[in-house]
Amino acid sequence: MSDQTLSNLLHEERRFEPPDDLAAEANLKADAYERAAQDRLGFWEEQADRLDWAKRWDTVLDWDNPPFAKWYVGGQLNAAYNCVDRHVEAGHGDRVAFHWVGEPDDDTRTISYADLKDEVCKAANALADLGVQAGDRVAIYMPMIPETVVAMLACARLGAPHTVVFGGFSADALTGRIQDCDARVVITADGGYRKGAPSALKPNVDEAVAKCPDVRTVLVVRRTGQDVEWEQGRDVWWHDAVDSASTTHDPQPFDSEHPLYVMYTSGTTGKPKGILHTTGGYLVGCAYTHWGIFDAKPDKDVYWCAADIGWVTGHSYIVYGPLLNGVTSVLYEGTPDTPFKGRWWQVVADHKVSILYCAPTAIRTFMKWGDEIPQRFDLSSLRLLGSVGEPINPEAYVWYRQAIGGGKAPVVDTWWQTETGMIMISPLPGLTSGKPGSAMTPIPGVSADVVDDQGEPVPDGSGGYLVLTEPWPAMLRTLWGDDERYQETYWSRFPGRYFAGDGAKKDEDGDIWLLGRVDDVMNVSGHRMSTTEIESSLVSHPKVAEAAVVGAADETTGQAVCAFVILRESALEDGETASDELIAELRDHVAKQIGAIAKPRQVMVVPELPKTRSGKIMRRLLQDVAEHREVGDVTTLADTQVMDLIQSGLSKSSAE
Ligand code: WT7
Repeated sequence: MSDQTLSNLLHEERRFEPPDDLAAEANLKADAYERAAQDRLGFWEEQADRLDWAKRWDTVLDWDNPPFAKWYVGGQLNAAYNCVDRHVEAGHGDRVAFHWVGEPDDDTRTISYADLKDEVCKAANALADLGVQAGDRVAIYMPMIPETVVAMLACARLGAPHTVVFGGFSADALTGRIQDCDARVVITADGGYRKGAPSALKPNVDEAVAKCPDVRTVLVVRRTGQDVEWEQGRDVWWHDAVDSASTTHDPQPFDSEHPLYVMYTSGTTGKPKGILHTTGGYLVGCAYTHWGIFDAKPDKDVYWCAADIGWVTGHSYIVYGPLLNGVTSVLYEGTPDTPFKGRWWQVVADHKVSILYCAPTAIRTFMKWGDEIPQRFDLSSLRLLGSVGEPINPEAYVWYRQAIGGGKAPVVDTWWQTETGMIMISPLPGLTSGKPGSAMTPIPGVSADVVDDQGEPVPDGSGGYLVLTEPWPAMLRTLWGDDERYQETYWSRFPGRYFAGDGAKKDEDGDIWLLGRVDDVMNVSGHRMSTTEIESSLVSHPKVAEAAVVGAADETTGQAVCAFVILRESALEDGETASDELIAELRDHVAKQIGAIAKPRQVMVVPELPKTRSGKIMRRLLQDVAEHREVGDVTTLADTQVMDLIQSGLSKSSAE
């Protein structure tokens, strides 16, 4: 697409109407908004009928003790049974659950619902033999392979909450998560493939588990065949325990509020928060939104969510949502540029993908690589495109719709969070129009608003804070082991309402535009990173006295991590300077402690940090520096000269 075409599209069509063919057959009908508004809880009862309940609920919502919600109270169900067995029982065992596309690129597997049921039953039997019982926490640290889905569903089948830790996180990050939720079993692999080469996972688990004496079993999938250290009595090969296990396993029903999983996410403090999702409400939310927003049809669609299972997007929209709806999905292990930059589009063409869900950062990367690459492939199967993780800029939205969606596939810009469990604000592809850059309106059944500092709803055309005004089924129930922090973080800023931490505006039509975080949380490539967590990591380095981290605007990743550090006296006395070696050492230190995704793009050594008289670091000013802007108002600084000092010093320090 030429720059001129893009610019014309941007200016001529500020609003895209739903395509007629999609509208005629859309899963969700136009009366849904109305019905949900009139009888919200009745609407949520209707959605719960998408699942098979071993025992029906007595009360749809218990909100007597806010913010502690109970949904579908008294109901009982089994998550894995709902994702797998019932489709096989209904005669759809032959339907493909996953087209798995691995790395290297000739490594593929087709897994039917019947295959998946057998694998999940075998893994559940193996885990039970290893002593896993309902309520036990199991950590999962895996690459993007079918066994990861099998492991999650096997845990769910046994009522053992899983905590999946993204494979890119470090041994330290894994240790913290295992310890926080007191997991006794870890499921991992020898390694995975990354950009065509094997990378290791087991050594990180060995390092982590050395600090977690309560972990009694490490179950290891052989994926790459690389050598691994082996701890007799603790380590068990997946193929030894699972392959020979029985394919028969009786799924016990669990209470609707039984914990399904804990997913850790960065907050405003250094310690990640363990977001707790429970069974009934979460599954209802996943099934309903995947069906309604992606318009997914089991007999027609091939759906591909290109997230990693290690994040909530993978939980709700690779595993639970699509499987609950009995849909065929692509599960992709690789990266967008290996072995070549058209890899995604080849996968779309090969598998006739009809629905694609990914993050703006990927879209912007493809846009940078140019239209010629997708043009080489037949993308005509695509009928619906989704975006998630950060605000999508109008240019990327229009390019996505045009260059990937052939100008006909609508884009659903879906706003939600690890905490919400399900998509909350999004257009509906067959019903509502879409505006590039806006997530539009809360979906039927969800209530949101934009409020000012006092909590008053702002009028159309104004900005403020995004709040959710009614409980919803897939909402987090608490932070693992910390009810107080749960209340404090989400429900105290605007009492009675859920504070999302995002800024937002309502346009003249009342449609919602997300404006990014209003707290000390950055969004790097759609992943949430805490400034404080990275600051703590830098300060733990022996040469660093103080650190301040900001998210600076980045063309591709949305925001990039920029760190400002003051060196310790002792380091300075030893003649330490802002050398390239030191910068590299500090960047690596953060990658080692948290994970490669947290590695600062830039580390700047400065003599001082800008602080208010009460000692609070004014990150806003540092952000000006990182984004090469003129520095804003400095009058509230304790020492107004500091910014001059920082800027004059910076010309001397090195950065990447
Ligand atoms: C934060 C949640 C939800 C799964 C992926 C991230 C930002 C998410 C959008 C969107 C604008 C978005 C928000 C939110 N965000 N989707 N469509 N438009 N911003 O989950 O790590 O829990 O992060 O991501 O800032 O608070 P997460």
